Amino acid sequence: MNPFSYGSVVCGEYFYNRTEEISQLESDLTNGNNIILYAPRKYGKTSLINRVLENLEKKNFNTIYIDFFNVIDRNKFIELYVKKLLQKRKFSVEEIIKSFNKFVKNITPSVKFDNFGNPSFELSISERDSDTNFEDVVNLPEKWGGKKEKWIIVFDEFQEINKLNGENFEKELRANIQFHQNVTYLFLGSKTHLLLNMFRDKSRAFYNVGKFVKLKKISEKENTNFIKSRFKKFNIEISDEHIKYMLGVTENIPFYVQFLSSELWQSVISSKNKIENEDINKAIDRIIAGQSDYYLELYDKLSQYQKKLLLALIETGSEVYSKKYAEQHRLSSASSTQRAISKLIDEGIVEKEQSGFQFSDPLFKKYLKLRFKA
Ligand SMILES: Nc1ncnc2c1ncn2[C@@H]1O[C@H](COP(=O)(O)OP(=O)(O)O)[C@@H](O)[C@H]1O
Ligand SMILES: [Mg+2]
Repeated sequence: MNPFSYGSVVCGEYFYNRTEEISQLESDLTNGNNIILYAPRKYGKTSLINRVLENLEKKNFNTIYIDFFNVIDRNKFIELYVKKLLQKRKFSVEEIIKSFNKFVKNITPSVKFDNFGNPSFELSISERDSDTNFEDVVNLPEKWGGKKEKWIIVFDEFQEINKLNGENFEKELRANIQFHQNVTYLFLGSKTHLLLNMFRDKSRAFYNVGKFVKLKKISEKENTNFIKSRFKKFNIEISDEHIKYMLGVTENIPFYVQFLSSELWQSVISSKNKIENEDINKAIDRIIAGQSDYYLELYDKLSQYQKKLLLALIETGSEVYSKKYAEQHRLSSASSTQRAISKLIDEGIVEKEQSGFQFSDPLFKKYLKLRFKA
């Protein structure tokens, strides 16, 4: 089995490092500090939180995880939320339903049992009822919570709440959860600027709700140790220099590090026990070939100006609004560049980093380079 995994949440032996982040988050959350954890996509937020929640469950917390990419409207939110709340409560089914009905008047969940006798809860909520139920439902973990029952609730990709009935949903959610003593909230988000706007802007509902934590990349050293040891399990040798080269190409972004390692392992496992440079180059080529339709589509839908800017960003993403930058790359006004950057960020192609604007996908950058700059 391939010793590298990429694509979604990693767990078990595929998950490594993050020890400091785990202990910091656990300590904050168990002490009741709300957290806003942010980083670009594919840095490992969800995987990290998954691990943290596993640990907290062992310490007897009730934990709930909601991904806002799956929430299409308020009804869906209530539905998901209630189902998970009911599932996580450590009481008999009768008691759970009874106490649920006490606090939420208009919803009656039904219970099904699987072959092992485990209950699962079903409910449907009409559009008309969603307003009246919202408050009751959001306050449920607080009402249930107490000395014996602590809840930790995670909202992943929380910036997506912006798309659900604008700021109303946001306001109502905040208005209720601000009084919660027995529930700790963790907000995760990828679209950093959107997320930070929500929490840092005084006029927004979630202003000042919690502590900001920025998730960094995994260090090169940790990545090197991991990659080495995973290949070693299969008696394949890979040198520090080769790994360094891989981390350079993938810009050390967790997802792309695993993606390239996985592809490399796949291509050498039946034929080699020592990695050479050309093996890595072939693996990169294969990934890019596999992605090229997608890359082309991504590029094609941009305007001429956005394309021009994107190609300029291959060289450098700093001081992009300067006169010099515009001259060098034959761009027009700073405001046009600003608009184009906004679009590239919205499309998830580019991220804003401290040092300037960067490609979210280092292999897309490589693809463009090969295609347009070679
Ligand atoms: N701690 C980790 N150990 C191993 N791989 C990781 C780790 N964190 C992230 N990754 C890699 O990055 C990919 C994306 O992780 P994910 O948790 O979905 O990121 P995010 O939620 O930030 O988008 C994973 O599938 C895995 O390949
Ligand atoms: Mg995620």
